[in-house]
Amino acid sequence: MSKEPIILAIESSCDDTSAAILKGQKILSNEIANQEIHALYGGVVPELASRAHQQNIVPVVDTAIKKAGIHKADIDAIAFTKGPGLLGSLLVGSSFSKSFALGMNIPLITVNHMQAHILSHFIDEGDPMPAFPFLCLTVSGGHTQIVRVDSTSKMEVIGTTLDDAAGEAFDKSAKILGLPYPGGPLIDKHATNGNIHAFEFGKPKIQELDFSFSGLKTSIMRLIQKGVVENHNFIAENLEDLCASIQQSIVTILLKKLQKAIKQTGIKEIAIAGGVSANTFLRSELKRLSTEKRFNLYIPKFEYCTDNAAMIAITGYFKYLEKDFADQSVTPSARLFF
Ligand code: KG4
Ligand code: ZN
Repeated sequence: MSKEPIILAIESSCDDTSAAILKGQKILSNEIANQEIHALYGGVVPELASRAHQQNIVPVVDTAIKKAGIHKADIDAIAFTKGPGLLGSLLVGSSFSKSFALGMNIPLITVNHMQAHILSHFIDEGDPMPAFPFLCLTVSGGHTQIVRVDSTSKMEVIGTTLDDAAGEAFDKSAKILGLPYPGGPLIDKHATNGNIHAFEFGKPKIQELDFSFSGLKTSIMRLIQKGVVENHNFIAENLEDLCASIQQSIVTILLKKLQKAIKQTGIKEIAIAGGVSANTFLRSELKRLSTEKRFNLYIPKFEYCTDNAAMIAITGYFKYLEKDFADQSVTPSARLFF
């Protein structure tokens, strides 16, 4: 194991089919095939996602290997997402990976998708990496967590959502506004020139470090229903202000709890991860706060925020160093905890 290992990684937990090649801690390629089909249905349709993964996986892996400029025989191990995620989608990635490991006679490594979002900070891009222990606000379409990270393998969820995830709050709000799925990036875009104080929504009263977004959703729905009754053009005439106010409300909920966690733990190394960490307002507010409250902030590059196999590869790398391998009996888990 003296040379830097080359790892092929597969991510197929939801609606993106991705393959990456990692050498040491550097990414050589990171291919992602998005599944446009779900936009027609206003959300991910699990059956269609599995079928699309089945179609995409071989071409995506092939392209990742070619773009990395390596040969199949150079690969030292294959890592794949074991969960959490949609079972039918996970089965495509796990079956492919098990067959590949068997065919190439190389180790098989299982990866927890949520841990991988966090460990994307350790992909070597020449930027500073968080020091242990650090706190990570992991915000995606399925999860909202504050995680205390003590090492690449020791992590503890110290706060989580009691209902919707932050990404879901963005996507469901967007749906109410008539925007297509996934609505998070569109709310971000329309919010650019909007007034964040134009509309007020209900604020959750949740104990400790946990989150709740369902009340906000109801509050948004009520305000919009009332607005449309009074003026049928209400949404179109106020789209920018609505998006800015919704975005501000979601980000405020997140940052309030993150600040509480910083205070409670005394940890001043702060990272964000997951699809929602691509949000412009969240990023800028965090930068402002990090100066004001004097903590070190680590924000992933955009391509490592939303689902990607590069983060699976870096997690696989740490498990490879530990010789933490799986055997052919392994199966994916839709619900997988740390
Ligand atoms: O991590 P991710 O790609 O997939 C999951 O593991 O869920 O996160 C997807 C979520 C979606 O809800 C999407 O709307 C949200 O991330 N998202 C954003 C932005 N980009 C992606 N939400 C707000 N602003 C963005 N710029
Ligand atoms: Zn994710």
